[in-house]
Amino acid sequence: MNEVLETIAKRRSIRKFEPTQIPDADLQAIIKSGLQAPSGHNDQSWFFSVIQDPKLIKELSDGSKLEMQKMPDPWMADMGKNEKLNIYYSAPTIIIVAAREDAITPLPDVSAAIQNIMLAATSLNIGSCWIGFARFFFNAPERNALVGIPEGYEVHYAVSLGYAPEKLKPNAPARKYESYYKIIK
Ligand SMILES: Cc1cc2nc3c(=O)[nH]c(=O)nc-3n(C[C@H](O)[C@H](O)[C@H](O)COP(=O)(O)O)c2cc1C
Repeated sequence: MNEVLETIAKRRSIRKFEPTQIPDADLQAIIKSGLQAPSGHNDQSWFFSVIQDPKLIKELSDGSKLEMQKMPDPWMADMGKNEKLNIYYSAPTIIIVAAREDAITPLPDVSAAIQNIMLAATSLNIGSCWIGFARFFFNAPERNALVGIPEGYEVHYAVSLGYAPEKLKPNAPARKYESYYKIIK
């Protein structure tokens, strides 16, 4: 296997992080990898807000959880009420990922960028987790400004980044290899 294939196979969602911050040079490389993602019509509709202030990260987590508590889905509401849960898993760095509201293909654009971000992080031995719960805090778009998202952008996801504890070796969740593809020759 080459290094790219090994990195793809190695990536796992990390849900526990050391407080140690990731180096700035690694963060720059990770952001650059996100910016190198493909996008519909080369629209590059994304905007990344990188946050390394633990107080703000907790506020964003608490804000999303408050919104989750109001949801009709009991699973979501219970997650929102879980006092122990930090939706970013207290990662030292998070990237809030938004896309222009008038973009042609906003969700594929940001998703491709996030995958690049996570694979770049993995290649640097930095753990990551895609955070769908992030957007709930931003249901009220006036909150975008709190994290420097420009007007006309919508927050879709976030990514948590940081070092996994030495002991933590998450197993890959089982993949349904056989039932999800077909090769026709
Ligand atoms: C759109 C999307 C949203 C996700 N949101 C969350 C989330 O809010 N919290 C979380 O812990 N994991 C989240 N995940 C991670 C998935 O749970 C994870 O990728 C899946 O269980 C497979 O595990 P793996 O990433 O280790 O291969 C999300 C993944 C995607 C693609």
